[in-house]
Formats: sequence, C-alpha cells, structure tokens
Amino acid sequence: MITPATIQQILNRIDIIDVVGSFVKLKKRGTNYLGLCPFHNEKSPSFTVSPNKEIYKCFGCGKSGNTISFLMEHEKYSYVEALKWLANRYNVEVEETEVSAEVRAQQQVADSLYILNSFAQQYFTNILFEDEEGQNIGLSYLKERGFTEAILRKFQVGYCKESRNAFVIEALQKQYNRELLVKSGLAANRNDELVDNYRGRIIFPVHNTTGKIIGFGARIIKKNDKAPKYINTPENEIYIKSRILYGMYFARQVIDKYDECLLVEGYTDVVSLHQAGIENVVASGGTSLTTDQIRLVRKYSNNLTIIYDGDSAGVKAALRGLDMALEEGLNVKLVLIPDKEDPDSYVNKVGAEAFRDFIEANKKDFILFQLEVALKDAQGDSQKKAAVVNQIAETLAKISKAEDFTKQQDYIRQCAELLKIEETGLNNLVNKFIRERVNKQEAKWQAEAPVAEFDQPPLQEYDTGSDEVFQLLIKDELQERAVVKALIEFGLKAWDESTKVADHIFNELVDEDLFDNPQLMDVINTYRLWYDAGLEPTAKNFFYHENQALSAVVVSLLEFPYEVSEKWKNKFQMPVNSREEIYREEVISTLGYLKLRKIKRMMQENQIDLGKPHTPEEQLNLLQTHQALKLMERELLQHLGTVIVR
Ligand code: UTP
Ligand code: MN
Repeated sequence: MITPATIQQILNRIDIIDVVGSFVKLKKRGTNYLGLCPFHNEKSPSFTVSPNKEIYKCFGCGKSGNTISFLMEHEKYSYVEALKWLANRYNVEVEETEVSAEVRAQQQVADSLYILNSFAQQYFTNILFEDEEGQNIGLSYLKERGFTEAILRKFQVGYCKESRNAFVIEALQKQYNRELLVKSGLAANRNDELVDNYRGRIIFPVHNTTGKIIGFGARIIKKNDKAPKYINTPENEIYIKSRILYGMYFARQVIDKYDECLLVEGYTDVVSLHQAGIENVVASGGTSLTTDQIRLVRKYSNNLTIIYDGDSAGVKAALRGLDMALEEGLNVKLVLIPDKEDPDSYVNKVGAEAFRDFIEANKKDFILFQLEVALKDAQGDSQKKAAVVNQIAETLAKISKAEDFTKQQDYIRQCAELLKIEETGLNNLVNKFIRERVNKQEAKWQAEAPVAEFDQPPLQEYDTGSDEVFQLLIKDELQERAVVKALIEFGLKAWDESTKVADHIFNELVDEDLFDNPQLMDVINTYRLWYDAGLEPTAKNFFYHENQALSAVVVSLLEFPYEVSEKWKNKFQMPVNSREEIYREEVISTLGYLKLRKIKRMMQENQIDLGKPHTPEEQLNLLQTHQALKLMERELLQHLGTVIVR
C-alpha cells in the first residue's frame, strides 16, 4: 500500500491540465479547457476540463471524473497504477506502508516466481533455437506446423528436453530453491528427487498484461495416450487461471483499436492468428469464461467474438459463460469454424484474408445461436421446449440496462419467432424474470455507485404550487445533499468556542433516521471516521478516494447549486443571504430542512392513517399526533426564519 503521505504529495502536485493534456489536445476557453473527447468519436470539441475544480466532463458522451479516474479510464490503470504514474511524472518518491509479514512473504514469493519464470523462458527458448534436440524435435515440429521463427520469438516459445532433469540441474546451479521450482510447476517431486515437469514438450509462456511471465502451457509433441496433451502451471501466487486470457499482453492495444476482441480456445490458435496479422485475439484455454476474464476483455472492448470449432466441447463451455457476459454488458457474437478445423488449422488452410472474410460473413448472434442449439435438442419434446422458453426468457432478462432496451425488444421478437410462440407471452415471461432479478438485486444496487451527476435538473421545475413543494420536500434528497455539502465545506470551522461544525452536525444526526441515500450517509460516515482519527477531511480527500463511487458522490455535491434551497426559502418567505460568512446559519438551516422533511413525511403518513376506518380512540390519537407534528413544524419554520433573518 502506498502511504497516505505519498498520496498527499501526489495529490498536491496534480495538474489536471498537464495530465489530460498529455493525452488530449486542449485549448483554453475562459476558465476551462476544451478538446476532442478521447472517449468517443467527435468532430467538434465537447470535452471540457476545469483546472479549478480538477475535473473533466464531456458534454457529448457524458464521461466525467478527476485526474485519477481519467488515467484509469484512458490508460486502463488501476487506482494504484494511476498513482504510481503520477508519482513518476511529478518526481514523488513512492513510500509503501509496512505490510504484514504474511503479505510481505507472499509478495516475495510472487517476485521470486517472476524471476524464475523469466529465467526458465530464456532457458527453454534458447534450447528451442540453439540446442540440437531443440532444433531437431521442437523447432522442426513447429516449423512443420507453419510457425515462423519471428512469431515464435515474439511469443517467446521454447522447448523442454526429454532428459529427466536438464532444466532442474540448470536452475539449482543458479541457486533457485527447490520449493519454488515445485511451486512454479517447472519441476515435479518424484520420491524426493526433482525432475523436469515438461519433458519433451513445446513451452508456451503465459504473460500477464504488463508482459511478465506468470506461467506456462507445455504441449506434448509425440502422441501419447497416457500423458495429457497440455500441462499447465498449477495455481500459485501469480498464476490464477480464472483471471488469465492467453495472449492479452500482445492483443490489448489492437483490441482497443478495433473495438473487438476475438476469443479462441488454444495457444496455437492465438499464435497462428497473430502470424496471419489478426492480432486482436486471446485464448481462454477451452474452459467457460469467468467474470474476471470478461471484465478483462471489457477493459478494452465491449464486443466479444468467440471463434470455436463447430463440434468442440469448448462451445458448450463458452455457452455457460454467456449469461455473465450479458450481465456485464458485452455484445457476444459467435463464429463456428467448419469441417473439424480449428482457427489455427483453418487460417493455415485458407490464408489470412479468406479467414477474415469468413469471420465477418459468419458472425452469429450468440443468444440466437444458443436458442437454435437448444431447440434442435428439444425437437418434438414439449416439456423440453417449455424449459427452453424459460431459459431464454431468463437470459433475455439479463439484458436489463436501460440503454439496451431496444436490443432486448429485438431479441424478444426474434426469439418468439424462432420458438413459434406469441411475442407478448415471451415479453411477459421476460418481465417476470426482470422483476425477480430487481427484487433480488435491490440491496446490491443500493450499495453500488450512482454515476457522478454533474448537472442538476433545472430549478424552474420546482417553482410551482405548494403541493409540489410539499411533494418535493418529502421525496427529494436535496436536503440530504445540502447537509453533506455543509459538512464537507464547513465541517472544520468553529461552531462555538470548543466545538467545530462537524461536531454539531454529528450531534444532530445521532440516532436520527434522517437519510434515505445510503451513499450520502457513506460520505458522512467516512468523514466521521477520518475526523475521529484526528484528520482534517476536505473535499479533496474524497475527491481522490480509492472508492470511485464515494468520489463521484462528492464531485456531484460540489456541483450542487445552492439556489435550489433558496427556492424553498422563497416558498417559505425567507430572505436569502450569501453563504460563506453565515455558515453557522447555513448549517442550522440545512439540518432544519432535513428535519422538516421528516416531519412532513410523518404528517403524510398520519394523514393516510386518518383516512382509514378507526375506533374513536385511535382517531383521537392520530389527530393529536397530527397537532403535535403541526406544532413541531411551525416551531421549526419559525426557528429557520429567525436564523435566516437574524
Ligand atoms: P486443443 O486440444 O484445441 O489444443 O485445446 P490446441 O491449442 O489447438 O493445440 P494444437 O493445435 O492441437 O497443438 C485447446 C486448449 O485447451 C487447453 C489448452 O489451453 C489448449 O490450448 N488444454 C487442452 C489443456 O489445458 N489441457 C489439455 O490437455 C488440452
Ligand atoms: Mn489446434
């Protein structure tokens, strides 16, 4: 972990114009800077950067954020990577916090594994190209399959000799320890003797996205029914299968450029397609896609095209990953390679150009394909068909994002046609699944982030009859926002001789169930945590908080126009003053409005209760409650009035 002091130093030196400007050409316009948006295609600039607020926003596509989120979005960096990039740019020395002994040990193992793997790769590549056995058995086999020396070098392919322990001897001589050799999968322990694990195999190194070698796939050359075709690195500190897509290091920039990721099954498919100039391709190793793999793809593109051979078990495996891909918002297409070929053999047979044409001409929609397969399977069996209908409805329900609504409707129409059922029936079934999902996920959604709202709705909308104001007071969260904003802006100012504004706000909020929006509450709780720990939280701390959701909320607060509350004040005939010098009053009034909202709500509930049949006793109770609430309301309003008028 990077120390808070280092982060502070980095934040102090951030110059958003400098950072964004090194990726986007910016021109000064008034206090802001303007450029062509790097996140969507546009001819006239609508990408705005505000040096004062340290934020950017594109008025074309709506993307917005701060310097760090820009680096995360544009360069696909993680939070920590973005910080390190900035540290490097601004010559800040990065201090990392003391980590636990356990974590440190793990990091050390990881580092050692990287070093060992790199050594092994160089050893195996050297054997492939320079050693007699390597050339005669390994290289000649690969050349026969059509691989060029250049592409083998690019992918750092190698060969492991048939000898019992040629590599192990070399590694032990270089002081690599036995435990690490086993952990890396390069050696196996046979009766206390270390032997080479990949004897007589072609070695495909597996790289992470920064190009470091995390493991190997070792393919057998001689046919042998007893031995597996591939031996892969066992799971260890750096080889985590569910997160790996083979070839991503070489493909990622091309995937970004073409906005499409091709997915194949095997190592040789990736290497062959690269050799043919098709470089936006990665392999999953023939298993179903995991969420982590899908997210890795989505960093670079939303379009995934799966290219498998027609009768491979891999198709079934990949189908299982589909629902997850839909939930993650990927557009999935499928191309099946004919005649028992796989992408590797097919591109070798027909050539690069014909291969490309074939892919373009044979892309099938994955959902419709899945339906076709299932229908074929269910032929004539009405029970099976009913299950298929259910299954497809559940799948379609997962396309739930608002912007994908038309996509969903298109699918419903096409699937109903294929199923030969009524469109409305399928529609209803899909809706049923959506409702179920929504119910289930409600809690989850609440915990997740809303997108930063820069623009507030126009104020005039609120300026209508008193009924609307009443509704506004009850439903709106503007009061909550105003309180949080006051906390962030004035929290450290004096409340009285001995306490600060923050203390007062926390006191007023204690035990009161005044907030609806859990994220605003989150900001308050985070502030409190820092405050209680003796820190002096400012907007900037939130702004660059690791939790991007939290940062987005605070960004939206700073953009929150104070005029909205002026409207209420006008509505309640209260004069308005400017803020900075009367912060105490503002704190009182924002808290007051929040309480007022609660009272209004209670009155409304009470009103509804009054409308129901009651015993005279209950009736009296409700009326008394109403009067008490009315009184509280009047007092609060009076109090607010006094404060504002002074
Ligand atoms: P394939 O059998 O299609 O192999 O398995 P391939 O990559 O096309 O190799 P060639 O062209 O026959 O030489 C596809 C992928 O499934 C994984 C590997 O990742 C392989 O690339 N696999 C296959 C294993 O992990 N273990 C195996 O025993 C077989
Ligand atoms: Mn193959």
